[in-house]
Amino acid sequence: MEDLAPRASDLDPIETASRDEIAALQLERLKWSLAHAYENSAFYRQRFDAHGVHPDDLHTLADLAKFPFTVKSDLRDTYPFGMFAVPREKLVRIHASSGTTGKPTVVGYTARDIDTWAQCVARSIRASGGRAGDIVHVAYGYGLFTGGLGAHYGAEKLGCTVVPISGGMTERQVTLIQDFKPRVIMVTPSYMLSILDEFHRQGLDPRDSSLAVGIFGAEPWTNAMRAEIEQAFDMHAVDIYGLSEVMGPGVANECVETKDGLHLWEDHFYPEVIDPATGAVLPDGEMGELVFTTLTKEGLPIIRYRTRDLTRLLPGTARSMRRMEKITGRSDDMIILRGVNVFPTQVEEQILKCDGLAPHFQIELAREGRMDSMTVHTEATAAAATPDARAASGKELAHHIKSVIGISARVTVHEPGGAPRSEGKAKRVVDNRPRQG
Ligand code: DLL
Repeated sequence: MEDLAPRASDLDPIETASRDEIAALQLERLKWSLAHAYENSAFYRQRFDAHGVHPDDLHTLADLAKFPFTVKSDLRDTYPFGMFAVPREKLVRIHASSGTTGKPTVVGYTARDIDTWAQCVARSIRASGGRAGDIVHVAYGYGLFTGGLGAHYGAEKLGCTVVPISGGMTERQVTLIQDFKPRVIMVTPSYMLSILDEFHRQGLDPRDSSLAVGIFGAEPWTNAMRAEIEQAFDMHAVDIYGLSEVMGPGVANECVETKDGLHLWEDHFYPEVIDPATGAVLPDGEMGELVFTTLTKEGLPIIRYRTRDLTRLLPGTARSMRRMEKITGRSDDMIILRGVNVFPTQVEEQILKCDGLAPHFQIELAREGRMDSMTVHTEATAAAATPDARAASGKELAHHIKSVIGISARVTVHEPGGAPRSEGKAKRVVDNRPRQG
């Protein structure tokens, strides 16, 4: 594959600044952000007062640990507009999570916030190997989800030509990729697999497509999946991370030249990793829950937001800003099966080891008597679709899951096309266990 590293002269100066320069900027901005939240949001004022802290108590970056956390239920409790730190008329955009349970969480942006966001996404696309003049096919969903519009504004900011196709209508996705010849695609990795199937269904070789860079995120995916997609399309597959509460896509992104974890755009977001049980801040390198404080956001400043995403902080490589390791999973998605903790990404890795299995999967949990059981629904590749081949692949996967993860799982190998498909974020776990009283 082509070497796509951007030239140093194309980077924002802060991307190659010294650690001291980054820390100085962070401290200045952190002071502003705490004061802004305290002075303009009744929620934060009450929270800080109840906790006995004031923005003036922050003298060093480490002092942030004195401040209280913000959690998802805080956004729900103040639904819809209670956490904003500017009058509603100053917001130019609202996004919201779909809210599978209860009320959605609503986030809002001023005009300057939208511009900052676009800059972060532009920087992310450039880190991924995209550049001005590229055609960018955006298949993240448009709407209240931040994926589509977030990617869109960033690609425009970088100087690209955007194809705002959104998610779904997979046949048309492939037609437009063939006709418009985008160099870059932005989409969830699970939906990219559906697009891959459609290439094959239309008798096209995906390796002949114009795509050179895929910017994949919004859900966990493994390095094994990266290898699968890169091989299938002869393209670079790069990881983009973000969350609505903090901004949207473009909080962190991998660099195409290293693909060694995601550089956090630390000039706008201050990361911490904490022990999820005690809340204590952990040193860099230790695994825990990622927490963010926004440094420049006006509409919805967020202070020490607990993401529930599990990762660790690593030193910078291709950029001086720190990296976060590819996310293993969310604490909410962790399956506890007969005392063993399992993440769907671990299952994904084992599936991708089996030649006879396609990369689509879903995990079903059930209760049988007093025991929990796990069934992994996978599907056969076209080349290994006979009943014998499917039985052999199922046995192989069950063996890998037992020997590497340490649990006994049932494996169902469906016919090609038989496992559930995604058009956005994949639903990896279906929990049919009776709810605990
Ligand atoms: O998923 C924003 C986004 C859109 C990111 C497009 C990247 C690309 P939410 O819907 O608020 O926002 O979901 C945020 O998705 O806390 C993670 O659990 C998960 N997530 C996002 N990116 C990644 C990633 C968008 N690269 C939640 N790897 C986050 C793993 C991710 N998980």
